[in-house]
Parts: sequence; structure tokens; C-alpha cells
Amino acid sequence: MSAYRHDGPTIGETLEQHGVSRRTFIKYCTAMASLLALSPMVGKVMAEQLRASKRPSVIYLSFQECTGCLESLTRSFAPTLESMIFDVISLDYDDTLMAAAGEQAESARTRVIKENYGKYIVVIDGSVPTGEDGVYCAAGGRSALDILHEAAAGAAAIVCVGTCSSFGGIPFADPNPTEAWPISALVNDKPIINVSGCPPIPEVITATLLQFVSTGKVPDLDEHHRPKVFFGNTIHDRCYRRPFFEQGKFAKSFDDEGARNGWCLFELGCKGPTTYNACATVKWNGGTSFPIESGHPCLGCSEPGFWDKGSFYSALSAPRWGKAGEALPSQTLKVAGTAAAAGVALGVVSAGLSRLRTRHAAGDDKSGEG
Ligand code: SF4
Ligand code: SF4
Ligand code: F3S
Repeated sequence: MSAYRHDGPTIGETLEQHGVSRRTFIKYCTAMASLLALSPMVGKVMAEQLRASKRPSVIYLSFQECTGCLESLTRSFAPTLESMIFDVISLDYDDTLMAAAGEQAESARTRVIKENYGKYIVVIDGSVPTGEDGVYCAAGGRSALDILHEAAAGAAAIVCVGTCSSFGGIPFADPNPTEAWPISALVNDKPIINVSGCPPIPEVITATLLQFVSTGKVPDLDEHHRPKVFFGNTIHDRCYRRPFFEQGKFAKSFDDEGARNGWCLFELGCKGPTTYNACATVKWNGGTSFPIESGHPCLGCSEPGFWDKGSFYSALSAPRWGKAGEALPSQTLKVAGTAAAAGVALGVVSAGLSRLRTRHAAGDDKSGEG
């Protein structure tokens, strides 16, 4: 953690200025620790360590993107527990959110880089266009590629938020007219953590950042540089419609009896079996639901190749079951007892986080110490 400190108030002081009590912060860290599969005691220790630390400097760069990722992180409609991440980090540059503009904004970024060289974290959404000397995405007369290289040079680590920065996403899709690339194709000498999704789940972004800030260590990553704790299992591994899949009960159209009964959406193109993400457990909108729970197949938005893989409403090719109604061998898809158990555990934690979020929004935890 010490590598990422800069001058200014401690995280604890900043939280208190914003009316967040020690007790609330401990609960927040405990919930985040649970999401990260750590014990509640680790969450408490994490909270105390963070409260005593200075806030790490963060440069947030937005390149070829739609602002959906930043919207997901900031959640504009209400103050939430996720917004606490802004008390934990010092968001020193974000050209979408900051009040400064023009030369003032550009010099803010240069100053942050100079003063915190080697210590700051760069968070990036969007891919980087390289065609026509990068003219498709520029700020202050400089290309996104130039800004990326300048900011990456002194970064302790880079966190790519969203599928555009992680894997190229929609700007990278064929015919890729701007010659866009994901960050990992352009920077190869810094630790890169990909938090993919179009957009990613806000709790997954904040928990990843919190873990990195509190430990100063890059989490365990999968082959695509995604934190294993959130991307270690498929949606299908933890999907509540899985029993219908196993029984061969599939909705054939969005308005048939199967759809009304909540049967499996595999034949409507669900990519849950090949998509690694935490949607089935952490869910969306404060733990309310996720695409499959709303009756829509997973489109595989957190995977490399999204959008070009397409075939959103066509079933995955290889038939993985016998006749409709036959019991299915569990081993046909990668499902392990441990994965199911992890899914249940994450579901319980998610429900706890939801309750905590509701109480925080209602102001229950804003006063008093634990
Ligand atoms: Fe927008 Fe999706 Fe790209 Fe995020 S990943 S910037 S939500 S297109
Ligand atoms: Fe759930 Fe999709 Fe798997 Fe069916 S195919 S169980 S809807 S993830
Ligand atoms: Fe994306 Fe599939 Fe989740 S489409 S939001 S990874 S359910």
C-alpha cells in the first residue's frame, strides 16, 4: 500500500468529512472482503489499514468509449456504498467528471504524473484508435495513444474498466475503422488488471480497486488478466435456471410457455456457458437482477471477441444434451461442486451487501461508532 500514497488527508479523515462513520466503513470493507472470498476479520483489518492510509492517486482516462463504464461506476441516481470508492481513492484526473477544462485539465494530468511518478494507478475505459495517427480520439491536440503512453510510463498498475479497454470491445469490432486496440496490445511493461463487461458490474470494479489499494498487490488473474475471484466461473455455473438446462427444458421463443415458466434460455442464444463473469451472483442494480433473470440470454459481454462473436440469438453450436426432457450429464459443461458452492456463497454475500446498501442509502449507518 505504501507505494501508492501521496500527500493529503488520510482515507479515514476523508470519509469522516463526507459523513461516513468508521462503523459504516468497516461494514463496507467486510462486505467487499466477502465478495473477494476473504474472511470478515480481513475486512476489518483492511478497513483500519485503509483509514490510516493516504489516498492513492488515480488518473482515469476515457478513450474510445460510450461512458457506460463510468456511468456504471458512478451510479448517478443515488449515493451508494459503491460511491465510497471515491473517498478511498484520490481521483486526480478524469476529463469526464472534473470541473476543469482545456489547458487547466491537461496541466492537472501532467502535474499528477510528475508528483506521483511510479505510484499512481491508471484506470482506463475505452479502446485506443491508432489509425490516421490517432486523430479519431484526441484531447488537447494529443492522440489517445500519446496520452496513454505518457500516463502508463509512471503508473504502478493499470486497471482496464470495461470490455473496450480490456479486449477492444465495440470499437474493435470488424471492420474496426479506427484501428482500435485494447490496452494490453499497446502497453506491455506494466501490470494490467482487466475488469471486463459492457459495462462491468460496479461492485466488481470497486472491490477490485479496493483490494489493489489495500494490499498493493495485483490479484490472482485468469489468462485474460481478469481477477479470478469474479471471473473464475461461468454465468452458467451459477445460473438459477441451471436445473431447467439439466432437465432439457428450454424456452424456444421469448413469449412461449417455456419463457413464461422461466426455463433455460440456451436455445435462444444464451452465452452463459462460455461467459466468465459474476452476474449470476453479484447481479446488477444493487443486487436486483441480471439479464437472464430479466428473461434475456447472456450475450457474452465480458468475453474477448464481444461484439464480433455475435450470433446473440443463436444457440451455441455443439449439442450438449440428449432429447428434450432427458436428464443431462453434468460433466458436459464445466460445472464443479466447488463452483456451485462458490456461487451460493457469493449469492449470500451479495444479499448481505444489498441489505447494507439499502441501510446506507437510508442513512442508518451515518452516525455512531461500532
Ligand atoms: Fe461502453 Fe461497453 Fe465500451 Fe464500457 S465496455 S465503454 S459500456 S461500449
Ligand atoms: Fe442459465 Fe443460460 Fe446456462 Fe440456461 S444456458 S442455465 S439460461 S446460463
Ligand atoms: Fe454481460 Fe452476460 Fe452479464 S451479457 S451483463 S456477462 S449476464
